[in-house]
Amino acid sequence: MTEVISINNFKGGVSKTSSTAGIAYVLSEIKKKKVLVVDLDPQADVTDLLLKTFKENNNSLLNEIMNSNNIESILDEKEDEILDLLLRKSTDINENDLYHTLKEQKHLNESIIELSNNLSIVPSDFNMIGYPYLLEDLKLNRIDGAKYFDSFLEEVKEDYDFILIDTPPTLSDFANSGIYSCDYSLIVVQTHVRSFNAVEKLISHLSDFRDLHDNDFDIVGILPVMFKNQGKIDSFIIKLLKHVYGNYVFENKVMQRERVKFWDAIGIQNEDMHDRNVLTMYENIADELLEKMRDRNGK
Ligand SMILES: Nc1ncnc2c1ncn2[C@@H]1O[C@H](COP(=O)(O)OP(=O)(O)OP(=O)(O)O)[C@@H](O)[C@H]1O
Ligand SMILES: [Mg+2]
Repeated sequence: MTEVISINNFKGGVSKTSSTAGIAYVLSEIKKKKVLVVDLDPQADVTDLLLKTFKENNNSLLNEIMNSNNIESILDEKEDEILDLLLRKSTDINENDLYHTLKEQKHLNESIIELSNNLSIVPSDFNMIGYPYLLEDLKLNRIDGAKYFDSFLEEVKEDYDFILIDTPPTLSDFANSGIYSCDYSLIVVQTHVRSFNAVEKLISHLSDFRDLHDNDFDIVGILPVMFKNQGKIDSFIIKLLKHVYGNYVFENKVMQRERVKFWDAIGIQNEDMHDRNVLTMYENIADELLEKMRDRNGK
């Protein structure tokens, strides 16, 4: 049976995309499950990250920059190359991004890019910004708007064990479409005071949404992200989360790691010990996610 997981939080820059990519990578490349990532964000960050991981090899330039004591001279020498590396977005998509598929009512299969034997992506692009207007043009109300994307996803669902949906940092048609289609919402929360406030609001939104749309997704858990070892507030927020939300809170956390920041430029790497440590961190999270899904399913 396919499990659809939407990664949610309406706060920006809290590791939704990196968590989606990290979990998708270990489920597909290490655990050999069939995984589809759907990018519902016009920022197209998970599209960019996974294309960099599987389609491009550009880590030598970044390594040169990171190991240099004279970054200015590399910038003088290789400015074009560096800007190309950092600004290039979603090169392989052409007309097959999610927005075109939804607008022209094509089969979702046409937009799927196979990244490896087990991992595929429905890519986004900045033009996805037009999605709310598209729903408006189609005269779909709030409830039918959320169902629209789901009707496309249904057509490909059975080809995968897991579908992970990355959503933007808003409670808008984008995130709502992901929430409508999911079996489970995975809430990521940065271990900061303001993020704790946002969790309560998000849970309340999810609960209202479920009642309004009469659908039956479950919150699978609350994953603490960008945790700083020895951060006093970080530890306090974890304790507070556990006190309030009990075993919804993951035991495993996404730690703050330079390697994860590197992913933005060169994609996910599995080359050395540090890469493997980071992947082990996501593997433990994926294991706990699977366990929590089993528990929520009452199996
Ligand atoms: N575990 C981590 N350690 C260090 N940096 C991280 C970690 N996770 C994410 N980051 C960095 O934080 C920034 C935001 O991460 P990411 O894009 O995953 O967040 P997001 O919640 O998807 O953002 P948005 O709300 O814009 O969609 C990125 O530059 C990313 O490299
Ligand atoms: Mg993101």
